[in-house]
Amino acid sequence: MPPQKKATFLIKNIGQLITMDGPVPRVGNQMKELGLIEDGGIAAAGEEILAVGKSDEIEGKVDLAEGCRFVDAHGGVVTPGLIDPHTHPVFAKTREAEFEMRIEGKSYMEIAAAGGGIRSSVRDLRETPAAELTVRTANRLNTLLSYGVTTIEAKSGYGLSTESEIKTLQIIKNLNETHPIDLIPTFLGAHEVPDEYREDRETYIEILINEMIPRVASEKLAEFCDIFCEEGVFDIEESRRIMTTAKNHGLKLKFHADELASTGGAELASELGAVSADHLVYISDTGIEAMAESGTVAVLLPGTSFSLAGNYAPARKLIDRGATVALSTDCNPGSSFTESLPLMITLAALQYRMTAAESLSAVTVNAACALDRGGKIGQLKPGLPADIALWNMSDYRELPYHYGINLVRIVIKRGKIVCG
Ligand code: NIG
Ligand code: FE
Repeated sequence: MPPQKKATFLIKNIGQLITMDGPVPRVGNQMKELGLIEDGGIAAAGEEILAVGKSDEIEGKVDLAEGCRFVDAHGGVVTPGLIDPHTHPVFAKTREAEFEMRIEGKSYMEIAAAGGGIRSSVRDLRETPAAELTVRTANRLNTLLSYGVTTIEAKSGYGLSTESEIKTLQIIKNLNETHPIDLIPTFLGAHEVPDEYREDRETYIEILINEMIPRVASEKLAEFCDIFCEEGVFDIEESRRIMTTAKNHGLKLKFHADELASTGGAELASELGAVSADHLVYISDTGIEAMAESGTVAVLLPGTSFSLAGNYAPARKLIDRGATVALSTDCNPGSSFTESLPLMITLAALQYRMTAAESLSAVTVNAACALDRGGKIGQLKPGLPADIALWNMSDYRELPYHYGINLVRIVIKRGKIVCG
């Protein structure tokens, strides 16, 4: 018999222990299931969860290691560490001037067409040394962590040359090794056509297909490949070529789809077996059916709709038709500059009509599915990583309701307190 694992960390007096035990993914009514234990306790052994149960029984269930750390939750709520499945955290400069231009009436696409938007972030990133970019990105990760986030997907996409994209993916790799947050890397070289290929976009597509994707895949710098499939960026046929190449090189697929117009991006993502299609503000009914059928996760980004003062994705329709729905910040310097996943839960409540329980499913179990890690993270079960958030609230429904402030008390990553 292998030696019994001993508890190195124990939390007691948890008013509501939200384990998220239950179906993976959560679809339809399953999104309301929280695996909730009232008056709960949880024990970890090293990096893993050892046991969950009632507060007064948890100590009896495990052997205590010498020096086991005790935390009294004083009736607070405990959830799995949150998962943010769509972020663009590596950028050099913020773009508040564009935000103000939008307030004054310019659209996101007008600003982009005039050379602003993603292309301005590309110019900034290219001239910023990796060390400087690393510090700025780490600061954003610290903020994400303080809001209860323990795993994120992190995209490149502000380099748009082989060298700068690889520089970005290296930064993500280094931060994954040094920062408590787990970063899952996505190659987004097809984020936009950079300035130098505006008159010759075909050459840029060929560089993506023949140079960047093969290199990123063979050097294992990314797990996913993403594309901004949108009118005026990469159309459906270009997206099909680029993403088929990525798939053939063993990269899993994600799409920015149907964000600003209905282009059939969700249908293409489903057809190619993408792990997720994200945004989906203008998804068609056939797109919704296709996603429900394929299991491609719908990652919804209410902060982008909010920050662009635009329309919101048809979340209720997606849930009612049986699609897997996740939520994310889309943290980026253009369309959604926030590190607050809890604020997305408030927006999801008010704009998508998603209850607190549905949103919790969307930022844990279903967000894990959007990263192809369903059942491996996002739940508090023995054997899974001890990624845990303890909240300053006694009822989880306070999460969307008490908005605009940080309700996190303690964040635990792999069994260690990393924040609070
Ligand atoms: O998800 N839509 C494309 N990409 C980002 C915005 C990037 C930017 O404006 O810098 C998004 O909204
Ligand atoms: Fe995005």
